[in-house]
Amino acid sequence: MKKSEKVTLNTIKKYRAENKKITVLTAYDYSTAKILDEAGIDIILVGDSLAMVALGHKTTHSVGMEEMLHHTRAVSGGVERALIVVDMPFMSYQSDVKDALINAGRFIKEAGAYAVKLEGGYEHIINVTKRCVESGIPVLSHLGFTPQFLHTLGGYNVQGKNQEALEEILKQAFELQEAGAFGLVLEMVPEECAKIITEKLDIPTIGIGAGRFCSGQILVTDDITGKYEDFTPKFARKYADVASVVRNAVNCYKNDVQEGAFPSEAEVFNLNENEKQKLESLKSGR
Ligand code: KIV
Repeated sequence: MKKSEKVTLNTIKKYRAENKKITVLTAYDYSTAKILDEAGIDIILVGDSLAMVALGHKTTHSVGMEEMLHHTRAVSGGVERALIVVDMPFMSYQSDVKDALINAGRFIKEAGAYAVKLEGGYEHIINVTKRCVESGIPVLSHLGFTPQFLHTLGGYNVQGKNQEALEEILKQAFELQEAGAFGLVLEMVPEECAKIITEKLDIPTIGIGAGRFCSGQILVTDDITGKYEDFTPKFARKYADVASVVRNAVNCYKNDVQEGAFPSEAEVFNLNENEKQKLESLKSGR
C-alpha cells in the first residue's frame, strides 16, 4: 500500500483476509499523531487512557465528552493516512441509545474521527453497536479487561482465565460481530483464549496483553516510548526512554540559563548597521 492511501474498513478487512498484522497505537495530540501516521501505523486510537496518561487522573472514568472531542480534533489535524478511532468516554453511551448515538455522531461530525470504540458486550452495548453501525458510525469493540468496568471487575485482572469465562467472552464477541463491529480489542486475556477467539471470528482481533495470535496489536504510545512512568504493564514493551531524554534536556536548559550560557550570540535577533548607529547616537545624545 502507498503511504498516502487512506486506511478504511476495506483495508482492515483486506488485512484480516491476508493475515497481515494490524498496527495500532494511541495518540492524544497533534505532534504524536503526526509521527505515528508518518510511520505508517494503521489505526490511531484516541484512547480514554488519556485521562491517566495525559491528564493525570487515577482511572479512565473521569474523562468527559468535551475533553475527548478536544483531543480527537488535535489528533485529526496530524493524520492523513491512519484510521482514527476514539474511545467513547464512561457514561457517554451506557445509559441510553439515543444519547449514545448523539455522542458518537459528535466525534465524527465535530472532531474528524472515523470510528468509535465501545467497551463491553452486554445487551445494551450490542444495541448501541448495532444502532451506530446502522447510522454510519463504525464501531471497534473491546472485551476482556475493560478499564471502564474496573470497579465491577475488582481491579486490573486478567480475564477469561477458565472455560466458562472464555465462553462468555466468545458469546459476546459473536454478538458484537453480528451487530456490525469491524474489529475487537482483546485486553489482558490468556494467549490461548485470544487465539481461539481470533480463529473463530471473521473480524480482526487487536490484542493488548492478549498474546501473539491476535490479528493486530495495540499499545499505549506513552508506554512504548517510556514517557509515562507511573506504571508500565507487563505486556508493554518499552522501546525508548523519552522521560530520561526530556529530563536531561530540561536540566541542561536550566543550567544554561542559570549560568548565562543561554541564549548565545547565534540565538538572538540584532538590529541592522543603520539602526545600530541611530541607536548609538540616541545613547550618546544625553
Ligand atoms: O484507552 C486506551 O488507550 C485503550 C487501549 C486499548 C490501549 O483502550
